[in-house]
Amino acid sequence: MSEKIAICPGSFDPITLGHLDIITRAAAMFDKIIVVVMTNASKEGSFTKEERLAMIKKTVADLPNVEVDIYNGLLAEYAQNKNACAIIKGLRAMSDFEYEFQMALTNKKLNPQVETLFLTTRAENMYLSSSMVRQIASMGGDITSFVPPAIHDDIVKRLSSETRD
Ligand code: PNS
Repeated sequence: MSEKIAICPGSFDPITLGHLDIITRAAAMFDKIIVVVMTNASKEGSFTKEERLAMIKKTVADLPNVEVDIYNGLLAEYAQNKNACAIIKGLRAMSDFEYEFQMALTNKKLNPQVETLFLTTRAENMYLSSSMVRQIASMGGDITSFVPPAIHDDIVKRLSSETRD
């Protein structure tokens, strides 16, 4: 039987404990997971894609069936190139739903071969977001309970000097 591959796409700016939870749970369900850093047209991005990739690599180093990549094109096209059968997204509050539903339907139209699966976030990550992490870190706050320990210092070093006048 062929290998079951799923894609975990996102902007990961930076990866949080919420993302890591979804990736870990997805890795237990599929033969291979590809975490891919992509462009979200409505977000500007603080870290470069290469910085985000490096942080994700450090974070998933102990998950043997997880690969990390960058792609600047369409998610539906990427899923096809990689022979993936699923796209995995995490759902937090209801506020995520409309946007995610729209993307899932669009991706299905562009690539009927691929299914979008939603995993519900753990309750403690319900209000966690990369933008919150960036804001707290740039103002000198404690992000320990929001980000993977392996990249905590990288984020603090990079953002703490940014906006403190
Ligand atoms: O972590 P995010 O910002 O919610 O992830 C959104 C992302 C990057 C997965 C989405 O914007 C995306 O798929 N971008 C790639 C371009 C694309 O395929 N756009 C059409 C989606 S319907």
